[in-house]
Amino acid sequence: MTKFQAFRVHQEGDKVVGRLESLTVEDLDQGEVLIKTAYSAVNYKDALAGTGAGKILRHFPCIAGVDVSGKVVESKDKRFKEGDSVLVTGYEFGVDHDGGFSEYARVPAEWVVPLPDSMSLFEAMAIGTAGFTAALCVQRLEDNNQSPDIGQFIVTGSTGGVGSFAVDIMSSLGYEVVALTGKSDNNDLLTGLGASHVLDRHTIKLDGPPLEKGQWGGAIDNVGGDILAWLTRTTNPWGNIAAVGLAGGFKLNTTVMPFILRGVSLLGINSQGCPTPLRNHLWNRLASDLAPKNLDKIVTNTIELEGLPDVFENMLAGKTIGRTVVSINPED
Ligand SMILES: NC(=O)c1ccc[n+]([C@@H]2O[C@H](COP(=O)([O-])OP(=O)(O)OC[C@H]3O[C@@H](n4cnc5c(N)ncnc54)[C@H](OP(=O)(O)O)[C@@H]3O)[C@@H](O)[C@H]2O)c1
Repeated sequence: MTKFQAFRVHQEGDKVVGRLESLTVEDLDQGEVLIKTAYSAVNYKDALAGTGAGKILRHFPCIAGVDVSGKVVESKDKRFKEGDSVLVTGYEFGVDHDGGFSEYARVPAEWVVPLPDSMSLFEAMAIGTAGFTAALCVQRLEDNNQSPDIGQFIVTGSTGGVGSFAVDIMSSLGYEVVALTGKSDNNDLLTGLGASHVLDRHTIKLDGPPLEKGQWGGAIDNVGGDILAWLTRTTNPWGNIAAVGLAGGFKLNTTVMPFILRGVSLLGINSQGCPTPLRNHLWNRLASDLAPKNLDKIVTNTIELEGLPDVFENMLAGKTIGRTVVSINPED
């Protein structure tokens, strides 16, 4: 039986340990569709899962990686056939089911998204969960009547994966985007992605009254904690805040005042559980009206499976910029 490489994570005593291993298809979790991986990518969640820094994986051993693109090798579901180009992000992939840091992935057919016509397998993973999440934010914001007229739009954690796509896509949609970052030397990168202004996270006064002067028409927040609380206090009437992440903390200490006196809305973003019809719709939007303009700038790093531990460490230390694509069986 053919052996292949995968980055599999084990619980050993009270430690979580990830390593490259030789596996066979029989070792993979069950599913109707077997995919030969072309690319995967690294998300913050993968760094938490791959190191055990966060309780992401629900069983051990488990192959990490919440994103994959590749070609169907075998399908027991008639929606897919051998040779189809596909991608998978979210659901239980890389969480409670073997994921994408592997030369093969076997998944339920319901999770499989046909690759949009104008997108390559590389582009699909350059976008991956990060770009998909930014697109889901846009959809939720649009559904709740966000518009450039409400004021400048702020993106937090803006040099990260989701943040970079949020800056790119929101600026393309005509918003005046303010990029909030903790990294002081990335102004050129962020303005290159479309930000009108760059704001240093360390200059923000994080304790304030329940309502401060309105500054933002809306926000995509990757940071959570005190930054999200500050956003609730400083968002203009009828603005929306899409709550995506917790890179700065999971607690939220705010009051009802922004919600009942300014009509501010806090929109929950859950890309993992996004229903299949909306998921397919958003991937098609990512290949058309929401196509990122600066993928070449957003993908800052391409590695092979061996490079995963170093990227995890840098990501958890807040040192990474943009997206890291994992090249596994690259397209010619
Ligand atoms: N809800 C969902 O469906 C969903 C989907 C994808 C990701 N997420 C979450 O969204 C967040 C971003 O994901 P990602 O993959 O884009 O991660 P990422 O590439 O690591 O980006 C996170 C960014 O947050 C900022 N940051 C890091 N540590 C911080 C700290 N201690 N305090 C404040 N800011 C900090 C950094 O940007 P700056 O240096 O520029 O400030 C960093 O680049 C993560 O929390 C992730 O778990 C949620």
